[in-house]
Amino acid sequence: MLRNSLLQLSKSERVRDVIEKAPVSRSVVRRFVAGATTDEGVAAAAELDATGRCTTIDYLGEDTLDAEQAKHTKDAYVTILGALRERGLTEGGRAEVSLKLSALGQALPGDGDKIALEYAREICTLAQESGTTVTLDMEDHTTTDRTLEALRELRQDFPFVGAVLQAYLHRTEADCRDLATAGSRVRLCKGAYKEPESVAFQSGAEVDKSYVRCLKILMQGEGYPMIASHDPRLVEIAGALAAQSGRAPGSFEYQMLYGIRPEEQKRIADRGDTMRVYVPYGEQWYGYLMRRMAEKPANVAFFLRGLATK
Ligand code: FDA
Repeated sequence: MLRNSLLQLSKSERVRDVIEKAPVSRSVVRRFVAGATTDEGVAAAAELDATGRCTTIDYLGEDTLDAEQAKHTKDAYVTILGALRERGLTEGGRAEVSLKLSALGQALPGDGDKIALEYAREICTLAQESGTTVTLDMEDHTTTDRTLEALRELRQDFPFVGAVLQAYLHRTEADCRDLATAGSRVRLCKGAYKEPESVAFQSGAEVDKSYVRCLKILMQGEGYPMIASHDPRLVEIAGALAAQSGRAPGSFEYQMLYGIRPEEQKRIADRGDTMRVYVPYGEQWYGYLMRRMAEKPANVAFFLRGLATK
């Protein structure tokens, strides 16, 4: 119930405008968001890198219907990739970037798909020159086909581009089968949007079972599975499946979000497995933060306390 309300609110532009301008205590947002500026995003990546954790950087923003904003997002990725490269962080793919096609203009009327693809190409070219990779985030189910189509097109020129698949969607097992091929990078997560019964499992237990089925396909396949979950049971199952499939460390990786289970992140990195942290930065943190609150109601109290104490 609370999850659904928060996910509904995450789409409201009116509430977003009020909350983003509200005197929210910096520490509240900073628990989940690395900062507002390029320098802060790079500093967070450097700090994580120093503790043996890889990163994937996300310039916050989604669903833009403003062509200027889409270009601004593309420019922000170009700037941060340049800055990460200058610090030597992109070497060996230690710091990569995650893109939301809707933030690059996918929903613009007329040529939206084409514009987003062109901007993604520009970012991929720079990533290639910097020796790193790019992963396409997955948004709500109405965009899944278009995002997978963009993935196919981008991979023709940039085979290192990966994508996110969401275990809560009924279709995802089949998508995993399609993508469990050599060179393919798939980040498997549970899924963060409010989706109807017609397309998605609704109960936690069903989503977890689907996650394990999908993970089996990816681990037994020829691609590079990326286990994006903080769920201790799924993290353990992933390790067991990797061992069963004869996968050595480095042939798959674990991923978690900035600020969530940091001790576990370090533990996994310290034992020699690859751990990548998703690092969001930028001014437009509202939608991202609302989804994190929907995942864990205790975060709502934390957020409200921050509002009240400022
Ligand atoms: P679950 O929500 O069951 O949480 C398991 C445990 O983790 C909790 O009991 C708690 O201890 C901890 N935890 C989880 N979320 C927390 C939070 N917000 N605050 C504090 N503790 C928390 N989704 C999507 O739809 N499209 C995408 O592109 C991506 N991309 C993505 C990248 C990466 C690297 C990650 C880790 C996740 C995503 N997601 C995503 C989000 C994903 O779909 C999912 O909503 C969250 O990861 C939460 O699900 P868990 O698997 O962690 O399990």
